Formats: sequence, C-alpha cells, structure tokens
Amino acid sequence: MNCISLKRMENSMKSFGHEYNNMRKILVVYYSLEGNTKMIAKEIAGYLGADEEEIRPLKEIGTGFSKYFWGSSQVLMKKKPEIHSLQFNPENYDTIIIGTPVWAWTYAPPIATFLSKTNLKGKNVAFFSCHGGQNGKTFQNFKDETSESRIIGEIDFFEPLTKNKEDSLLRVKKWCDELLANL
Ligand SMILES: Cc1cc2nc3c(=O)[nH]c(=O)nc-3n(C[C@H](O)[C@H](O)[C@H](O)COP(=O)(O)O)c2cc1C
Repeated sequence: MNCISLKRMENSMKSFGHEYNNMRKILVVYYSLEGNTKMIAKEIAGYLGADEEEIRPLKEIGTGFSKYFWGSSQVLMKKKPEIHSLQFNPENYDTIIIGTPVWAWTYAPPIATFLSKTNLKGKNVAFFSCHGGQNGKTFQNFKDETSESRIIGEIDFFEPLTKNKEDSLLRVKKWCDELLANL
C-alpha cells in the first residue's frame, strides 16, 4: 500500500472515532462531585470513542454548603482519600485524559489518590478541569505530578453544566481534534 492510500485510510478512520481509538487506546479518567466534570468527561469519551473511568471515593463529602469546608480541608491537608477499585487498568492505555473539578485552586483529592497509585511514565497525558472562575495551579500541579509523561493538552471549563453548556461542548470537540492531531 502506498503513502497516499495509507493517509486516506487514516483520515477515514479519524471520522469513525471508535474504531480509530481501538488502535490508539484512550482512557478518560475523572472525578466529579456535582456533575460538571462528568458531563465533559462523557462528551470527550463519546467523541473519541474512549473508555471512561469515574473515580469514586469510598466516602464522598456531600453536596451541602459544608462541601467547601471539607473539600478544601482535604486539599490543604494533602489528603488522598481511599477510592473504589478501578474498572480499567491505565497500564493498558497509550493515552490518559484526566478530568477534575478545581478545589482550592488545584485538582480534587480523589485525583491525587489516582495519581499516587498510577504509573503514567511515557504515556500521553491530557488534563481538563471545571471551575467557578479560578483554575489556580491546577494544571501546573498536574504537570509536576506527571513529569515523566508526554503532556498533549489541557483545557478548563467555567461551570459548564449551568453557565456555558453549548459553548463548552463545542470547545470539547475542537480540543479533542487537537489531541488526536497530537498523538
Ligand atoms: C471544596 C470545593 C472547592 C472549590 N474551589 C474552587 C476554586 O478554588 N476555584 C474555583 O474556580 N472553583 C472552585 N470550586 C467550584 C468547583 O470547581 C466548580 O463548581 C466545578 O464546576 C465543580 O465540578 P463538578 O460538578 O464536576 O464537581 C470549588 C468547589 C468545591 C466543592
């Protein structure tokens, strides 16, 4: 098969995300307390035909007003809460896309637990976050924890469930295309 045929084959596979990613093996890993990160994760996984792993703490902090206190305390005390076992083994994937809500200007503690248990050395890694206006050091802290990975992208969303749904979903698609081009 010549180069032109190979390129054509690749382009036609790109338009069928799922089949394409059976070759590329992408996993979307996320934690979400109130659904914003979950919505974005599902959109990314659907668009890329990726597998989807929701990180679930054994003990969730609850969604009442006290969540700000308990959640931020966990961050400040650098807690790594216990999480349920994973459905998918990250070792089996070339590319891991990690999503988090921003808590106290960084990624949420259940994601800290995931990062501490997972070897991402040599993998393609991308990050996304959902926040209320201040992403803080979220991406810098992610990068510090994954210094041996190949970082292929990052994107943040401002309250996508309630404030910017349509625009956020459009941005997801554009970002996914950029990620694919980076693989
Ligand atoms: C404990 C806690 C701390 C938060 N800290 C921040 C913050 O530092 N900056 C910010 O912009 N939003 C902050 N937020 C708001 C969330 O990041 C935002 O609502 C996000 O969209 C929630 O995502 P989720 O629905 O996936 O849980 C915080 C929320 C909680 C519960």
